Amino acid sequence: MHRITLIPGDGIGPEITAAARAVLEASGVKISWEVVVAGEKALQDYGTLLPEETLASIQRNRVALKGPLTTPVGSGFRSVNVALRKEFDLYANLRPARTYEGVKSRYSDVDLVVVRENTEDLYAGVEHMVGEDAAESIKIITRKGCERIVRFAFDYAVREGRRKVTAVHKANIMKCTDGLFLKIAREIAAEYPQIEFEDRIVDNMCMQLVQKPELYDVLVMPNLYGDIISDLCAGLVGGLGVAPGANIGRDTAIFEPVHGSAPKYAGMNKANPTAMILSAVMMLRYLGEQEAADRIHQALKEVIKEGKNVTYDLGGQATTMEMAEAIITKMGNEPS
Ligand code: NAI
Repeated sequence: MHRITLIPGDGIGPEITAAARAVLEASGVKISWEVVVAGEKALQDYGTLLPEETLASIQRNRVALKGPLTTPVGSGFRSVNVALRKEFDLYANLRPARTYEGVKSRYSDVDLVVVRENTEDLYAGVEHMVGEDAAESIKIITRKGCERIVRFAFDYAVREGRRKVTAVHKANIMKCTDGLFLKIAREIAAEYPQIEFEDRIVDNMCMQLVQKPELYDVLVMPNLYGDIISDLCAGLVGGLGVAPGANIGRDTAIFEPVHGSAPKYAGMNKANPTAMILSAVMMLRYLGEQEAADRIHQALKEVIKEGKNVTYDLGGQATTMEMAEAIITKMGNEPS
């Protein structure tokens, strides 16, 4: 039995997490859910975006499935996602991007995974004004940060049967910071002779990804490049509706779609549950439930390919739950 923290989230979050939960339960994996709140819902109920109870639940269970959260604008609140990343030192942001037959995209054979460092770089938040007309931001890159993210990328490649890791950087210009990242990436690569290794300068990487994404496999990079390139990769495969993600640390992991809470669709039962279900599939793999993960993934691929029971953004008319039920039926189960 896996004990998992479930954060339904805001906007479309409750609907897509309900869909993902139904699919997971139909897979036969034994899960005991601990449902807690964060975001707008938590602000209403507890007066804080991230209640202690929610943190304690993740602390206890070490695995969470999370719907998107609405970040209130202009009220001085920091992002809950950043707070969670810091609290549990979730240093690796994992974002797979793959083409699915039936999802509109200019490409047909993309299967990439972006491994983004989540804690350092220009996102460390060390910036200040210099007088009134200049500003400085400090880019922090450490040996520890580089070693653990590059090792994570190689371990992931080995575990998932991937063939190549590409390190992305701008070491030709930022010789200290990105130079250190590249140097360490080369050192770690030598420990994994079975996995091919190469590096690309970030601007060239963007062009290559647009021109021939099929040449790439696992990409590892510092925080800022990862933020930008993972969105580029989501764009290659048809956008946010099909982009899952995970934030992983040494002993804790939080799985969530890349997209936000799409407030304008809240409560309409029409949001695409795919990114949420794919995030749940990543969670099953993390938990060692490969067979159930494969079965859900296969059923999802078939439903998308058939295009009959898919949501509006994939060209269909199904509701969120109807799409989930079609996946459950495809797995050989009766939807309950
Ligand atoms: P968004 O991702 O919610 O929406 C962008 C566009 O994509 C909208 O047109 C939306 O309708 C569409 N979309 C997103 N997910 C979809 C789905 N599953 N099915 C169909 N269409 C979908 O981004 P936006 O509007 O910038 O942000 C809305 C809220 O979400 C904000 O409060 C933002 O802070 C928050 N957000 C939260 C994230 C998280 O919790 N991880 C990540 C990104 C944004």
